Amino acid sequence: MTSKPPYQTITEAEPASFSPAGPLTGRVTVPGDKSISHRSLILSALAIGKSEISGLLEGEDVLATAAALRAMGATIDKNGDTWTVHGVGVGGLMPPETALDMGNSGTSVRLLMGLVASHDISATFTGDASLSKRPMGRVIDPLSLMGAEFTARTSSDGKACLPLTVRGLCPAIPMEYRLPVASAQVKSAILLAGLNTPGITRVIEPVPTRDHSETMLKGFGADISVETDKDGNRIISLVGEAELTPQIITVPGDPSSAAFPVVAALLVPGSDIIVENVGINPTRAGLFTILQQMGGDISFENQRTVGGEPVADIHVKHSKLNGITVAADIAPSMIDEFPILFIAAALADGETITNGLSELRVKESDRLSQMAQGLALLGVDVTEKEDGLAITGSGGKLLNGNADIISIQTALDHRIAMSFAIAGLVTDSGLSIDDITPVQTSFPGFESLMTELAS
Ligand code: S3P
Repeated sequence: MTSKPPYQTITEAEPASFSPAGPLTGRVTVPGDKSISHRSLILSALAIGKSEISGLLEGEDVLATAAALRAMGATIDKNGDTWTVHGVGVGGLMPPETALDMGNSGTSVRLLMGLVASHDISATFTGDASLSKRPMGRVIDPLSLMGAEFTARTSSDGKACLPLTVRGLCPAIPMEYRLPVASAQVKSAILLAGLNTPGITRVIEPVPTRDHSETMLKGFGADISVETDKDGNRIISLVGEAELTPQIITVPGDPSSAAFPVVAALLVPGSDIIVENVGINPTRAGLFTILQQMGGDISFENQRTVGGEPVADIHVKHSKLNGITVAADIAPSMIDEFPILFIAAALADGETITNGLSELRVKESDRLSQMAQGLALLGVDVTEKEDGLAITGSGGKLLNGNADIISIQTALDHRIAMSFAIAGLVTDSGLSIDDITPVQTSFPGFESLMTELAS
């Protein structure tokens, strides 16, 4: 059956233009890590008692998770800069009375599907036009093996999509599952379902993805172990039914958000900035490694551990960049950073080649296609392949802009919007994007932070 989603979040598009500015100087902090923020709320909601979270990302995606958890019984409040969560305990979620609107957030819907899958409740998930196009089969398949039942809309190309309803099974069936796609969201959905499932739930990851769920589950007291076998597979085993202990959590700054000022400083001549308190977990920091290999002057100062996560102040100076071939196996550690890498590549000297990125076609937008279209409008030599882009950079020469004529389509994708906002700084006469509002999903304050660095 193909039908229009009955519920959609309607926000009016707000065009914005970005022009050459800089040099960029000063010290800034970026908002809290999106992945860790979602998990902080979810695990706190499953602990019995009061958890406290500071540094939580107050972006729309994370607020969607908070609203859904409230609708399922958790008490979540903000006091000053600290969020408090009174959890219901593993197994204690209540059925939500209305559909849960996940807005633009794939992480919210996929992780919460896992949570509901092993509770004796049903929940319906809806989302905006972007989220409603994204594939949910990758989560439905493993959670069905655990016994949950799903009714989902089928898209015109035959994919299971939102709106969908999950009917959880309690007790669910423990299982071993080998991830067919490198996805931290799928891994996390299964582990969250495993919390309320008696026995061992095991996820095998042939390619490592961000490991925040494993680290945080351990921190909350779950019986979870991670081994790597001789073939390099990560084997994650979780014993249910788990009892989680409330925690005091400090969320570090998001490396995926820091990526934008970092690339901007590399590209704009004369820049010298520090982005403070950024998470540099190796499962997330691939972009910084690649930029260093391209010749970027990036150093990690004041390295420390915050809440079990490695954190540093990132010092970046304007640099001449060289094109690079990005090995496909580094992709999971920078999966959200390819749009901004493509902007860096557009200014580099020589060719940048990327492969193995078909996952980018099912993010908030088809990021290969959106980036290729936008770069072509700026006169960049770009070739779109099935699983990557090849870009021949300008060698530092400004891109062809015209803020009055060039309007980049952002397709409800925050990272496309921010990537082209940064590109605007290195055009000859600016550019416009059709909609800046999606930035609110992950990086509230993005525009003022960039203005602060440029003044
Ligand atoms: C995320 C995992 C990644 C990433 C997303 C956040 C997470 O998605 O793109 O922004 O918090 O687990 P996939 O699991 O689809 O790779």
